[in-house]
Amino acid sequence: MSSQPLWHGRFEAGPSPELTAFSESLSFDRRLWADDIAGSRAHVAGLESAGLLSTADADALRAALDTVHAEFAAGAFLFAPTDEDIHTAVERRVTELAGDAGARIHTGRSRNDQVATDLRLFVRRELRSIGGATLELAAVLLDRAEPEIETPLPGFTHLQAAQPVSLAHHLMAHAHGLLRDLDRLSDALRRADVSPLGAGALGGSTLPLRPEVTADALGFAAIFSNSMDAVSDRDFVADALYALAMLGVRLSKMGEEVVLWTSDGFGWARLDESWSTGSSMLPQKKNPDIAELARGKSGRLLGALSGFLATLKGLPLAYNRDLQEDKEPLFDSLDQVARALPAVAGLYRTLQWDRARMSAAADNPYLLAIDVAEALVLRGEPFRRAHARVAALVRQSLESGADFPALCRDHLDVQLDPGAPAALLRRRSPGGAGPLAVQAQTQALRARLEAERARLKD
Ligand code: ARG
Repeated sequence: MSSQPLWHGRFEAGPSPELTAFSESLSFDRRLWADDIAGSRAHVAGLESAGLLSTADADALRAALDTVHAEFAAGAFLFAPTDEDIHTAVERRVTELAGDAGARIHTGRSRNDQVATDLRLFVRRELRSIGGATLELAAVLLDRAEPEIETPLPGFTHLQAAQPVSLAHHLMAHAHGLLRDLDRLSDALRRADVSPLGAGALGGSTLPLRPEVTADALGFAAIFSNSMDAVSDRDFVADALYALAMLGVRLSKMGEEVVLWTSDGFGWARLDESWSTGSSMLPQKKNPDIAELARGKSGRLLGALSGFLATLKGLPLAYNRDLQEDKEPLFDSLDQVARALPAVAGLYRTLQWDRARMSAAADNPYLLAIDVAEALVLRGEPFRRAHARVAALVRQSLESGADFPALCRDHLDVQLDPGAPAALLRRRSPGGAGPLAVQAQTQALRARLEAERARLKD
């Protein structure tokens, strides 16, 4: 077992323990082990096809990489004190196993293009899985929405009751947001899907490397065009962090609504026991902890994004060790979102609606005001004048306690069914809260979900 770092040749002295403790990344980048081995396998294929490795050496390296893979998979891989990061650990072990052939594996490669390759492979895989979980949450919302096309509740602006909408329309609004989040994830994935392998430390190599062979072996959609860009580019990490932060903000807002809706003041929904928590002191409590954590954890996702952008902003080309700071925010953001999505999905899947309380809240006569004004518009009145006339009656009703629909009937000759279900039926505009439009929406969304599911599968 080697007791020196891989780069020891130029140095007489070994690294100080403080340097090692400060600069190591093995404690967190070990989770890239499978990607590092995959990258090395592709690199071996590239070197072999370029005539830079004999078939015998390539075979020895492949066998060693297989062993290393098996050791990691079994949790039996032994790290050495000199392993600075996952790349040095794998190379050290391959060299122990394959001898002279092992000493050839880093031919034409730098850890700079190696780490960028590993991380892109990792991001590609993880974003695909987050995308799948995002889709499942959207599917839960759609499942819960479909039966509620005629369940009225007040829609808010400024958290003040504004117009009746249906519970389906409300839930689908979040589903549409989630599909945009999915789009952002796919977009980040597309930009991560470029191979940097073959860029070397920063300027390529004097050796006849074949980046297209390695890119192909790893299933990358494209190959770098500029080696300096290839080793320094972490836009794909920032893209992923942004996509995750937006998704986190969405889950936060969805969580906030569950907190509101299940509160005593609203009482529009009840939490399922398996998806809520009790209080250590107050026996009667049932708390929306998932919703609150979904809201709370968005803070660290935003922090990860802004912190990493700050890391990037002053860097000269090309690789700088600062870039090692890409991994922890990325890993943390992925982990948090990966845990949040199924938790929020379960929360929404099991919420029990109190339709009576929703309807009662929607049966607020003043929610009729815009419908009355629009009835005047249909008779030819300019909207601004109609608005003013109805507003005057709202004021009169509030001041005198007179029934608002009766005032509209008597003063404006407008008689509308004041109930929320009738108000929903009056809404006919495309994309609006009326039952026909919402039904068209649920059907379109169902088709879109199926298409996205199929796309994520290939
Ligand atoms: N652990 C390093 C990182 O994550 C690997 C690359 C190191 N390259 C170097 N030239 N020191 O960025």
